[in-house]
Amino acid sequence: MLPDELTDQDPREHTVRAEEDLLTARHAVRASAVAAGFSIVDQTKIVTAASELVRNAYIHGGGGTMTIAVVRDRFGRSGISLSVRDGGPGIADVEQAMADGFSTGAGLGHGLGGTRRLVDEFTIDTTPGEGTTVTVVRWKP
Ligand SMILES: Nc1ncnc2c1ncn2[C@@H]1O[C@H](COP(=O)(O)OP(=O)(O)OP(=O)(O)O)[C@@H](O)[C@H]1O
Ligand SMILES: [Mg+2]
Repeated sequence: MLPDELTDQDPREHTVRAEEDLLTARHAVRASAVAAGFSIVDQTKIVTAASELVRNAYIHGGGGTMTIAVVRDRFGRSGISLSVRDGGPGIADVEQAMADGFSTGAGLGHGLGGTRRLVDEFTIDTTPGEGTTVTVVRWKP
């Protein structure tokens, strides 16, 4: 289920243009997950998901932006939403890109598949030649 509303906390934007921005992005996600009351195990899952997505935006997408939002659904359940977008080449075959072991670079090709397994909601919106946006949500148990 997609979030119905944002909480009072404003979404936060993080630009990922350089190597050091990856660390800043990880720290920001950790802080939001702590503030939202996630367990340490869940914090780590959320940070790992964020890390893979911002690394993809940096390596494959030529840099991008991550938006962190604390969200709530209509039942009052809260969660964290991460949306990572870039203006890179896009992904021609999303199914292939999601498969474990597929990489067009030097990676293991486990980033996208692994990320999907760490979150409750996973959406890729990509257009070849225009860019990619991956949005994930992890709900609090
Ligand atoms: N933001 C993106 N823009 C363009 N292509 C992407 C993007 N994210 C992923 N891809 C494509 O999907 C493939 C699979 O991504 P995935 O994250 O699973 O593996 P990887 O980044 O190659 O390696 P790993 O993440 O294991 O280090 C990439 O090799 C790349 O071709
Ligand atoms: Mg990757």
